Parts: sequence; structure tokens; C-alpha cells
Amino acid sequence: MLRSRMPGLSAILALALAASAFAAAPATRITVDVAHPGHEVSPLLHGIFFEDINYGADGGLYAELVQNRSFEHEEHLFSWAPVSRGGANGNLTVESLDPLNAKNPHYARMVVSAAGKGFGVANAGFGGIALKANDNYRFTVRARGTAPLRVLLEDETGRLLGETRFDAPGMQWRTLEGMLRSSSTALHARLLVLATETGSLDLDVVSLFPEHTWKDRRNGLRADLVQMLADMHPSFLRFPGGCIVEGKDLLNRYQWKDTIGDLATRPQNWNRWQDAVRLTAPNYYQTYGLGFLEYFQLCEDIGASPLPIINCGMACQFQSKQLVPLAELDPFVQDALDLIEFANGPVTSEWGAKRAALGHPAPFNMKMIGVGNEQWGEEYFERYPIFYKAIKAKYPDMQIVTGAGPGVDAGDQARWKLAWDKFRGGTPADIVDEHFYRSPQWFLDNVNRYDAQDRNGPKIFAGEFAAHDGPAKRNNLRAAIAEAAIMTGFVRNSDVVTMTSYAPLFAKAGAWQWNPDLIWFDNTRVYGSPSYHVQALFARNRPDVVLPVTLEPAPPAASAPARPSLYVVAGLDQKTGETILDVVNATDREVAADIELRGAASVVAEARATVLTSASADDENSFDAPNQVAPREETVKIPGPAFPRSFPANSLTIIRLKTGG
Ligand code: AHR
Repeated sequence: MLRSRMPGLSAILALALAASAFAAAPATRITVDVAHPGHEVSPLLHGIFFEDINYGADGGLYAELVQNRSFEHEEHLFSWAPVSRGGANGNLTVESLDPLNAKNPHYARMVVSAAGKGFGVANAGFGGIALKANDNYRFTVRARGTAPLRVLLEDETGRLLGETRFDAPGMQWRTLEGMLRSSSTALHARLLVLATETGSLDLDVVSLFPEHTWKDRRNGLRADLVQMLADMHPSFLRFPGGCIVEGKDLLNRYQWKDTIGDLATRPQNWNRWQDAVRLTAPNYYQTYGLGFLEYFQLCEDIGASPLPIINCGMACQFQSKQLVPLAELDPFVQDALDLIEFANGPVTSEWGAKRAALGHPAPFNMKMIGVGNEQWGEEYFERYPIFYKAIKAKYPDMQIVTGAGPGVDAGDQARWKLAWDKFRGGTPADIVDEHFYRSPQWFLDNVNRYDAQDRNGPKIFAGEFAAHDGPAKRNNLRAAIAEAAIMTGFVRNSDVVTMTSYAPLFAKAGAWQWNPDLIWFDNTRVYGSPSYHVQALFARNRPDVVLPVTLEPAPPAASAPARPSLYVVAGLDQKTGETILDVVNATDREVAADIELRGAASVVAEARATVLTSASADDENSFDAPNQVAPREETVKIPGPAFPRSFPANSLTIIRLKTGG
């Protein structure tokens, strides 16, 4: 039967309503003035901020597989268990008499009365030791004693995966080293160190590394995690924090000189993030195996300018609030000066010579240093200028990053305002670090935040930001798109907003203290959150200069309830000659726009578009679906300097095209 082609009354009504709605919504027009490039886009605009939070370093980026390798944890046998095999008998204790060194005085002592098939200790790693079939693992230990050693890798069922043996080391501390090959893949293996004859054995700095690390370095980093960073093309790396720079108290603060040289003499320090309220894994320690030489090396490897942060004589102002008296600040200032010499000094200088002795005679070309983390208040502004003056006196070109407190508004507003009153009142500042952990809506409301920023004042470093969506603060597309929106404002204002970085960077599944985070990993896997893709897309598509953009209808004032339909920024990549257009649709509906490249006589007919979106703003990535929200590339036909394009709901689109004329 033929169906009537005449629409029914309700359909006509629906069509009429849709048409009137369509007529009511003025078409969106994006005009990019390609003929009048504006200011330069800061080459440092997109960087990364690394802190050992959420097991980001130990148990994460730092590839050491043994946890509590030096027995310095407050529960000295944390992550260790005694092992007796085949009727073995003995005593396992932790001692500190006549230690390997005074900085890490504890070691494990085994006194074996019946050897059986071995008496000793087993380490469970960071939630298990993950091994790959046929991969090599480098075992090292400082040992002394009369008993020979057998070192084993076993899976969770006790199946032997690999082993090596050593003669008794004798009564002086010796370093033993051997390679173990794992016969199978295992997720929760253990490392066993057994004495195989009666006698005694002292063990310290018990270590197991995959042979294959990032660039196959010894004491290296996880290659898959570093690759995630390299893929972001970061222009700088801020390290090592964050709150751990401050410490819960001054004793707990990060001291860079503790983190270089022999691993055995780098003092273990507990991580103040173990006190975090949302703790999912207790007993978190810093080995400093990923220390300042390794950080600088990482910067060099991934082409990121180093930005170390030093303690300015203040412990965490949310916790102990301890302060170094002004009269006792000199050693802290000296640490900052020595750090600059360590990074940049000639090999004939004291600290340059130490760098050379550690295997890196070439300077690291450090150009920036942060004084304090997110400090605030008069106590900061009494201390910080002392550092500023001393650093500039010796290194006039060094750019100094200054804190402006932990936030910019709400409860943090007074702290932030005091900082800016100081800067306006003559306190010197090169780059001011502003932090915002706020709702997606706040991000949308603050896209224009820096439009009116004083161009003659200090530069801005948006050094820690992340959109926190609701109480669960999920790493979802909604948060990522809100971040993308504010990024358009950062690019547009990048003559004054010269640096930006999301925070925190890493989180280990099942062992995190803070969410959301940019990159999630476990012992074998890693994925980027939607926010990761936003950061990487902006960094990989950073133009050299901005191009003026007009958006019609004009976005309402930030305070108005209505939002612009799109957030847009454009620029020119001078190397490739491409115009780069970043368009963010933060609404739940598709937005059609007419795009005009004003001033372009012609456009190359094919362009590249990269779109980040997903079916729902709630969508996130996971180990099971790591690419649920991932950028998709497409080739776009461009008919001429004016063309239409629809932008999906909750999306970031980056279009690269070449114009002529
Ligand atoms: O990124 C997590 C923490 O947030 C940082 O350590 C600190 O600077 C901020 O409070």
C-alpha cells in the first residue's frame, strides 16, 4: 500500500516550531582575519607539571620495581615478608648499627640457623611486580655477610620465573648485580632474596629494574609513561611539585641536594600525600631515585625547558605552617643558587663539576626557577623577595616564577589579591603562577579572564588547573571541553599568559590521592584522559602568532547567564604556512557555523581537521576503553575562503588549512 506523502497536522506543527526555533537562533559566523596577524604565541605556552602524587614517581614513572628498597619506611619491613623454604630457619630483623651509610641507616639482617632451601625476604613491589615473558630485569643489592644468595622471581602461585645466584659477599658491604630473565608474563610477581647456607646476610638498597626503560637508561623511567609525556610535545616541565616541595613540615620538604648521586645516599622521605583525605593507598614514600639529575635529563629527552621549584623557607600553609626565620634563610637561598649552578654552571664550578661527575658535563640550559609553590600571605612576601634579589644579582637573566596562592577567587581571593597588590606595589615578579581547580562552568565563565590583563605587568603562568565536575570530579569529556574552552583564552592572551599546565599529571589506578588527573596508569598499562587529549592537541597545534577572530553573534558578557555557542581562537603556523582554527563547542547540541577566512584570496582545497568528542559529556576513558574519547582525524574539502562547518556537541575541533593571497 502506498503511504500518503502528505504530512499530518502534528508533523506540520513540529516543522513550523522547528523553523521558528531555527529562525530565532541567529547563524554563527566565525571570521578569521588571516591578513592581520597579531601577537606572538608564547613558545612556552603548553607544558607539563610533574609531582610525586598518586604514585606518580615511585611506583609510577620511576621504573624501580621494589618498594621500600632501603628499609627506611617507618614500618621497616613494609612491602617485605620473611620467607623460609624447605625447613629453613632463621631470624629476620632490621638493624641500623654500622650501616651502609648514615643517610639511610636501616638494613635487613638475616641470621640463618638452618639453610633448608633458603631463608630470606620477598618484596611485593608496588601492588605486585609486573614481569614480561622473556624480558630481562636487572637486580642490584648492597650486601655483606657469610651466606651465599639465591635471587628469584616468582609469580603469585609460587612458580619460578627466573633466578640468579651470588657467592657470599664477605664482611664488607659490596654491590652485587645480576640479570634475571622472566620466563613468563606475570602481574603480581615477587622478588625473593634468600640465603642458601647458614650464616648471616645484611641487605640494603635491594633493587630490580626492567632492562628496558626509557632510552634503556639504568635507574631509568617507564618508557610507556615517558612516551605519553613526549607525545604531548611539552615546552616545559615544572617539577618536583606541588605541595611536596613545601613538605608537611620543614623536615619533610623537598631538598634537591638529597636527590643526586649514589642512590644509597639519597635519604628516603615520606610523601606528604599519604596524609591526603581521599587516600586509597597508605605509606607513600619518596626514594628520590627520580632525582634532580633525572628530572633535568627527562626535560632534555622530551625537549622541555626545565622549571624546578624550590622551597622558600615555608612548609605547607594548610598543614604545619612552619616558617624559617628570616635570619636563617641563607642556606635556602644558597640551595637555589647552587641549583642554578648545578644545571647551568661550567664544569669548573663547584656544582657544575658535580653535574659532570654524574655523567652530564653539558649544561641543561635552565632559564626559569620557581620560588615556593603556591605560597601566600605576608610571610611569603617577606621571604620571596630575598630569593628574587639574590638570584637576579647572580643570574640576571633567570626568570623567576612567583606564587599567587592556591586559587584565584572564592576562599582564595584575599590571598590572590594580596599577591597582586604586592606586584602592583613594586614587589618584583617575572611570571606569576595562578592555580584553578574549579567547576567546568567556572572554566567557561573565565575564558576571557586574561583579556583585560595588564600587558605591562608580570607574565601569567596558569601552572595548575583542572575542571572538577561535580563531587566525583570525574575525568570526563565535560571537564576536558571546559578546559579546552579556557585554553582558547590562553592562546588568545598568550602575549601575557606565557605558560600553562594541567594538574595533577599522573594517577595510579587503585593508589591515588587526588582526582581528576591527566594520565592514568597501572603496573603495565596507561591511557590518557580526555583532558590529556585536549592538552596534547593544543600543544601539537600551537600557532606562532594569533589571528584576529570575530564571532557572531558576539558572546554575551561573562556574567550573563547565556553562553556563547562556540569558543574560537585562530593563529598561524609560520613554518607550515597553515592557519590553525581551534573551535570549542561546550553545549549539548551541534552548532553549525559559517567560517570566513577574510583576506585569503584562495584556500588549498584539502584541510585537516581533528575532532575530540564523544556521545555523552559524561564519557571518559578507561583501561578497557582507552580511546572512548580520543581525537579523530579527517580530511576536509574546503571550497574557498568561506565555508560552512558543523561542530558536534561537547567537542574540540582543530582545523589546519593553507590559504593563498
Ligand atoms: O596538584 C595537586 C596539588 O594542588 C599541588 O601539589 C598543589 O600545588 C596544589 O594545591
